[in-house]
Amino acid sequence: MTQQGVSWIDKLIWSWAPESFKEAGESIVKNFWLHWFPAKVSRRSLAFNYSFWLGTISAVLFAILGVTGVLLMFLYVPSVERAYPTMKDLDYVVAYGWLLRGVHRMAAHLMVAFVFFHMVRVFYTAAYKKSPTGGSRPLNWIVGVLLLVVTLALSYSGYLLPWDQLAYWAMVIGSNVAKSVPILGKKIQFLLIGGTEIGQATLIRFYVLHCVFLPLIALTLIVYHMWRIRKDGGLACMDQMVLKSEKERVESVGSKTYSLLGITRGMEVNVLTSARAEEENLIPSAPNLAKRILWVTLFTMFVTMVLAILVRMPLEAPANSAVAPNPAKAPWYFLWLQELIADTTIRLGRFTINGGFVGGVLIPGVLALWLALWPFLDKSSPQAAGVWFPRERLRQNVVFTLIVLGILVLLFIGGICRGPNWDFYWPWQPWPELPMHF
Ligand code: HEM
Repeated sequence: MTQQGVSWIDKLIWSWAPESFKEAGESIVKNFWLHWFPAKVSRRSLAFNYSFWLGTISAVLFAILGVTGVLLMFLYVPSVERAYPTMKDLDYVVAYGWLLRGVHRMAAHLMVAFVFFHMVRVFYTAAYKKSPTGGSRPLNWIVGVLLLVVTLALSYSGYLLPWDQLAYWAMVIGSNVAKSVPILGKKIQFLLIGGTEIGQATLIRFYVLHCVFLPLIALTLIVYHMWRIRKDGGLACMDQMVLKSEKERVESVGSKTYSLLGITRGMEVNVLTSARAEEENLIPSAPNLAKRILWVTLFTMFVTMVLAILVRMPLEAPANSAVAPNPAKAPWYFLWLQELIADTTIRLGRFTINGGFVGGVLIPGVLALWLALWPFLDKSSPQAAGVWFPRERLRQNVVFTLIVLGILVLLFIGGICRGPNWDFYWPWQPWPELPMHF
């Protein structure tokens, strides 16, 4: 036992079935793992059909990536001669190396998808709106947009590390997009790949970005994101409860002049009813929130593991700057941009509009800026926050859905319908046999 009468065991584990609110509250105060939870949460915040737990799943995937990434660092060597052979060793020599690599790569793909789904859910529930209790959800939304960008950067920087054909040519596409920026393009490309050609300097640059720099930024942003949720008064669905009880309070003050049984000053019957309703809506975080997080964690780990076993992760031929695959494709989450680049490259006689800049920098840049500023442009009422598809936000939701569908259609075209020379083929059409480009 320590000085305060709390044993080390109590600090690490807690009762899953507290017998009283007092015991539940105490476990939050005393326990090392739980102390960052609020003492109580609303039932609605825990409901699956509000958040679908997409943010929590994203956080668990980030944790899986952290653990498997550190284990991979024991084996991976960031040199253009050794990188590819170490990947082969992982796949065929190291015990369960294929599983370790598979779980890491699968979690990376899933994280990109789930962070995106999470953003879509936050948009549809207008959970970026300023809360009535103060706080700054718009700021947390901007942190979220940064997290989305960092997640994409993390995934892309890891894509290069196996140093196979997929990795090398994805890097070529990326560096060409960087080069297409007017005036500064060549300098940005030089900075990105560490020289004028993709080689050892590029690999070590991306290794440091992927293993140190970007994970630290992501971790800092995630911790701040979580802290902000607490500061902003919990999830946005709580706002409706606060607004409802505020409304009841105002209405009751306007209509009643007597207090409960004439005893309590200023505590009208309706006020007590709404306060009680609020009380009934709140449940202790321990064990309710703790249990849900545990289930989501186990479920996410299980699904990632099963998918990693079922889907063998690709490792193509070693990187070769002399043999260009045709078509050379970017990672799946950038295929919509690659398609945009192809669609915005326009040749008019001797003039060419550079699609690399329009589709690869300008359009995604404007989209990202619009996304970040969106909470300040949306003028819907606070009643729209924390509710799925509120009627008054119909127009906003339709525009957003069209943008998301547009991205998905471009992804599909880029991923499935583009064949050699980036020509269009329906999924059921065979591609022509073409000689390799040397
Ligand atoms: C690494 C990426 C991210 C992680 C780990 C993460 C994590 C979380 C978690 C755990 C929650 C609590 C609710 C839930 O589980 O859904 C949450 C809420 C929230 N997230 Fe994220 N998030 C990420 C990215 C984003 C992005 C891309 C956006 C938007 C652009 C965003 C905006 C928000 C907002 C505004 C809330 C409050 C939602 C509400 O009040 O209902 N987050 N996030």
